Amino acid sequence: MTRSLLRPLAILMLCGLAGAAQAAGDPQAGQSKFATCAGCHAIPGYTNAYPTYHVPRLGGQHADYLLSALKAYQAGQRQHPTMQANASPLSEQDQQDIAAYLAHFPSAAAPYPVQGNAVAGKAKSVTCAACHGADGNGAIPLYPRLAGQYEDYLRTALTRYQSGARQNAVMNGMAKPLSAQDIADLAAYYASQPKGLVTVQQE
Ligand code: HEC
Ligand code: HEC
Repeated sequence: MTRSLLRPLAILMLCGLAGAAQAAGDPQAGQSKFATCAGCHAIPGYTNAYPTYHVPRLGGQHADYLLSALKAYQAGQRQHPTMQANASPLSEQDQQDIAAYLAHFPSAAAPYPVQGNAVAGKAKSVTCAACHGADGNGAIPLYPRLAGQYEDYLRTALTRYQSGARQNAVMNGMAKPLSAQDIADLAAYYASQPKGLVTVQQE
């Protein structure tokens, strides 16, 4: 019941943003367009082959961030051969619709236990909170939600920002001073939030 109430609310909130931001997709059209993505993104615990890390959770992610991620793959600014191949045929409307569909999923608790030290990660997350929110559920549409994301995906993302394999001026700078322990602890903190991103369930 909470779920059925939250969904229209989330869509309304999304529509509210549409005037100012880019996100103006049709979630229902997005659901069918997401069928080709579901084989990886709608399977709980599904992993990328080499290197092995979980395919990121997309349910409840901000629409504007999803659009910017898809455009970065299309432009080759973000390198991942499989995702570049999956993003390349998407039209602007396809991307808008898929982003609107994904963004409307309500938050839930992440079901997986974490490996890193979430308590230490919380203390280290103070510098991240301005953009990602204190618990990784930040409200700024262009900054990704981190709460409930897979721990090993978060570690991979931070390691890539640090090495420059993933390019983003802000995040390259933020990741630079982090030790491997910091990365492990921060990933554990965000991954273990009681409210966060979910794996898409296609109905
Ligand atoms: C063969 C498996 C596979 C398929 C099919 C696939 N993806 Fe992905 N996707 C991945 C992996 C692996 C990553 C993480 C790549 C990386 O580290 O940059 C990813 C990352 C993403 C991201 C970035 C998430 C973030 O938090 O930054 C988005 C958005 C995305 N995929 C959307 C889609 C959409 C939309 C489709 C269908 C058109 C799709 N994916 C199809 C495997 C897949
Ligand atoms: C000034 C704003 C800002 C601050 C501060 C910041 N971030 Fe980010 N973060 C961003 C933006 C913008 C992106 C998206 C970049 C991109 O498109 O690759 C991002 C992306 C990420 C991602 C990738 C998420 C995904 O789904 O792929 C992770 C992980 C992350 N940040 C962690 C952190 C951590 C940990 C800190 C603190 C040490 C931090 N960020 C501080 C703005 C910020």
